Amino acid sequence: MTPSRFTLTRTLPANATAAALAADVTQGLIRTPKSLPPKWFYDARGSELFEQITKLSAYYPTRAEAEILRDAAPRIARLTGARTLVELGSGSSYKTRLLLTALGAPLTYVPVDVSESALAEAGHALLADHPGVTVHALVADFQQELPLPECPEPKVVAFLGGTVGNLLPADRARFLASLRSRLGPRDALLLGTDLVKDPAVLVAAYDDPEGITAEFDKNVLHVLNRELGADFDPDDFTHVAVWDEENEWIEMRLRARRALSAKLPAVDLSVDFRSGEELRTEISAKFRRASVHAELAAAGMRLCRWWTDPGGRFALSLAVPEPEGRVQPAG
Ligand code: SAH
Ligand code: AVI
Repeated sequence: MTPSRFTLTRTLPANATAAALAADVTQGLIRTPKSLPPKWFYDARGSELFEQITKLSAYYPTRAEAEILRDAAPRIARLTGARTLVELGSGSSYKTRLLLTALGAPLTYVPVDVSESALAEAGHALLADHPGVTVHALVADFQQELPLPECPEPKVVAFLGGTVGNLLPADRARFLASLRSRLGPRDALLLGTDLVKDPAVLVAAYDDPEGITAEFDKNVLHVLNRELGADFDPDDFTHVAVWDEENEWIEMRLRARRALSAKLPAVDLSVDFRSGEELRTEISAKFRRASVHAELAAAGMRLCRWWTDPGGRFALSLAVPEPEGRVQPAG
């Protein structure tokens, strides 16, 4: 029998997601200001809404990164010689196809995502168009231990879309250091980062007139209602996107339209919102070349190639691990 070219592995026990959600909700909703990690947006509906966002005229990052990849993918393939492509937060794997084509067959592709629906859909769709590719999909949280399968070397780890900017700075530093520890001497990291630009352009990208981003933002309330038996009415909240000049990040928030109290029976919690009180649902940090260089160096990696789209909106970095002992202290 021919071995299947698609496998999907759930790395976490069935109750781990519920436990992690319960912990994040308990911590995030009792503190002031209230906040939740953005990974909870991505159930099947959230993944689908994100795909719709990528097609909005105001949301430029996906198109800008695809422009870079169209041009740079053959170069990336030559520079890395990768036989395995690991992709963190792979979603629909749409742009990844440019890399798969450039890397050529035979290739092992390891997409990693919390969204099982996105992994299953993307994996099956890819196989038809890329006959030389074997897919080992992992349902996993990329901020936790990642039990990667045995794969041909060398590997390139791609983290596209600017998703690294959804991590808070301290989490980002931890994440990059842990990623570095998984890279062998011939491996490389391919990192997509959105760049600092006119705040009006940024705010428009996160507050589209079609209201898709608002639906995406409110999807976290649907997730809490379904998973924790909560009784949030998403219409009680307004989606807000603000540019934080000091931190150079976009913040998405849900603002209560009235004073309200929500019950979350699965975590035995009742949460009060004042009228106008906000719940932070996401940060989306924007970068400069110097900040990417510094964050990679602090994690023990050297930025060796930097590409931007012609409009200078988005950047793709190729980084390699520094030999042990040459890690620069953060600061
Ligand atoms: N890389 C794709 C998708 C970006 S959307 C692109 O560039 O278009 C962000 C993706 O990361 C989603 O598919 C989401 O499910 C996934 N994700 C978010 N947080 C995650 C986490 N902690 N662990 C694994 N996947 C995560
Ligand atoms: C996945 N991530 C990079 C997106 C971003 O732009 O920060 C998520 C998103 N949030 C609102 N629109 C898109």
